[in-house]
Amino acid sequence: MASKKDEDWLGVLLGAILGGLFVATAWVLRRFWVTLGWIALFGMALARDVETVRSWPLYMLSVAVLLVLLLILSRRFRWLRKGLPVLAEVERARGQKRQRIGNRLLRDFGFIASSDPTSYRTWFSRGVWMIDAPLATLTDPVWVENVVRDRLAVIDGAQDVLVEQTNVGGHYRITFLSDARMDPRSEMAPLDRPLSWDGNWDAVPYGLRADGSLATHRVRECSGTVVGGLPGGGKTGGLTALLSVLVPCPAVQFLIWDGKGGHDWGWLAARASLFNRDDEDREQIALQLEAVVGVMRERLDRMVDLRGGPSIWDTGGPSEDLPLLVLVIDECQAILDKELIPRDDKDALRYRQRAEAAISVLVRKGRSVGVWVIPTTQKPTSDSLPTTIGSNAASAIAFRVKTHEAERAIMGTAPGANDPTATALPAVPGFAVVSSETGDREVVRFGYLPVDAAARAAHESSSLRRSVIGPIIRPTEPTEGPTAGSEPMGDAQGEQAPRPRRKRASRKPQAEPA
Ligand SMILES: Nc1ncnc2c1ncn2[C@@H]1O[C@H](COP(=O)(O)OP(=O)(O)OP(=O)(O)O)[C@@H](O)[C@H]1O
Ligand SMILES: [Mg+2]
Repeated sequence: MASKKDEDWLGVLLGAILGGLFVATAWVLRRFWVTLGWIALFGMALARDVETVRSWPLYMLSVAVLLVLLLILSRRFRWLRKGLPVLAEVERARGQKRQRIGNRLLRDFGFIASSDPTSYRTWFSRGVWMIDAPLATLTDPVWVENVVRDRLAVIDGAQDVLVEQTNVGGHYRITFLSDARMDPRSEMAPLDRPLSWDGNWDAVPYGLRADGSLATHRVRECSGTVVGGLPGGGKTGGLTALLSVLVPCPAVQFLIWDGKGGHDWGWLAARASLFNRDDEDREQIALQLEAVVGVMRERLDRMVDLRGGPSIWDTGGPSEDLPLLVLVIDECQAILDKELIPRDDKDALRYRQRAEAAISVLVRKGRSVGVWVIPTTQKPTSDSLPTTIGSNAASAIAFRVKTHEAERAIMGTAPGANDPTATALPAVPGFAVVSSETGDREVVRFGYLPVDAAARAAHESSSLRRSVIGPIIRPTEPTEGPTAGSEPMGDAQGEQAPRPRRKRASRKPQAEPA
């Protein structure tokens, strides 16, 4: 027979086992209180029912119908799931898993330290990552997008990503896409005619932005646009798309210097007021540029008389009698780079210097009187694009380049931390980083208008071309005849044309149309 002491000991043991079992059961079921609650409700109601009305099959059926109804409604009103048996627990477990993955991604993408134990409000499910976390690292959406793109490999199978800031601060919806999104810029087909334009000088169209909207250039008050990039990057093609838009406009005259000496700009010859593809005759180039400076100075002097105000842009914009002068200096290094001139060729060095001075003054002072200078180069260095020109240009276009130095020579400054860079552009012609006066940079794709279509448009508008600077008189040439431009305001070249010094000679063929 067991002693009293043994019985006490056994009682304690039994109590401990039962207590342990109870705690373990409660611990296991702690996540299932909704389901347990429903079971308890069933049990209690059934017990009462059995004692009284004895209609338990009907009661069970009505509860089952109620459950099915709630289940159906919960598809639309998800919050109902929190009160449904089993489903509530499943949902909670899934939510916790989504949050765990979201927090892991915050660490994997470097938005929080890997040792940070906090559980933030962020969830990842089926390729969509929601973040509602007030983290300092999440304030700049551009930076967030760059970081996510850089580490895209963190997400299995992700090819692309769409980052949307749902609210200021750390609120994002980040969608990882398994197929690369079609970039409208890559899909661009060649144009069959110039893009149409509504005459707004603030927005002359030329291509596409990343979101597929039309990319436009602000010509108003733009006295200079520097264009640079590797050979074949699409500089000439891009400018063809942009300038062809202006070809049918009688308020625009084109003056072209083709430093390559080829046929890249031949399409515009019929419409161009001046078309010079002789890259050897430095004297002529300098004289022509100085003649345009003469026209600009004349306009500066007389703008108030002509228009009643100092700026063409505030007084109706360019017109047929006071047109916008678009100067394209393609491959300007041929004209401006002193490294390409033998040191003992004093004349060539002097004309180079004069050409640079003329371009520089046009870019500095031409804004208010409708002068727009576009130097382009495949060799973007400070020799090809002297700072006297580049630093005064209102805008810049960088096609693909190999080095950061080249990009800086075109854009004036290095890209900011969040800016796109021209060294990372796809090796496809037409893609470029463009900058505006405000310094914003974006990647665009220029349209591509094949030269025959561009030439057709130029021929159709050839009757619109007018002489701007008049015939160029060299110092060694005769003095008779007009020496100036045919602008209605009078002698455009008078103050610039050097006076003849020696014997008369027959006049050389003019680069300008008659
Ligand atoms: N936007 C574009 N889309 C598709 N193809 C283009 C585009 N622009 C140019 N191209 C193609 O790329 C070729 C080279 O373009 P382009 O002559 O404009 O380059 P570039 O930068 O001016 O070169 P270079 O420095 O040698 O003058 C063109 O002949 C044309 O076939
Ligand atoms: Mg070119």
